[in-house]
Amino acid sequence: MGFFSKDIKTMDDLFVHTLRDIYYAENQIVKTLPEMIDKASDQELKDGFERHLQETEMQIERLEQVFKLHGVDVSGVNCPAIDGILEEADEVAGEVDDDQVLDAALIAAGQAVEHYEITRYGTLVAWAKQLGRNDCAALLQQNLEEEMQTDMALTAMAESRVNAAAA
Ligand SMILES: [Fe+2]
Ligand SMILES: [Fe+2]
Repeated sequence: MGFFSKDIKTMDDLFVHTLRDIYYAENQIVKTLPEMIDKASDQELKDGFERHLQETEMQIERLEQVFKLHGVDVSGVNCPAIDGILEEADEVAGEVDDDQVLDAALIAAGQAVEHYEITRYGTLVAWAKQLGRNDCAALLQQNLEEEMQTDMALTAMAESRVNAAAA
């Protein structure tokens, strides 16, 4: 189903569709993070990805709660955007030989993922509130905050150490 499929008639349909998009994305991210943990050399970066893997598992559970609160089936829809971001990350990582440069590439890839998630959760929080689902909005807000924290932590690692080590 495309983003502007005819099956989406109401704001509520659009909310549920976007929820399914991020649910699919989070499930793809959970599958990809172990590879990123494996490839990272910097211990703080490895630990950061590991922590975010655990957070991501919790985020998936929160999304499942949102589906239940809203009374719809827990399911994903294909999200070509996250597939493309993860595919590109994998390609770039495969082409980098130097461990320190690879860490810088992994941070950049991680931040592309976080920014995608931030845009989706920002939208979902706003729509949930508009639809009178403050209960759903509160759960989505928790996910949004974890993505923003992760993004900031990656920036701090890059700027304080990893980029300089790679240069
Ligand atoms: Fe996430
Ligand atoms: Fe994330």
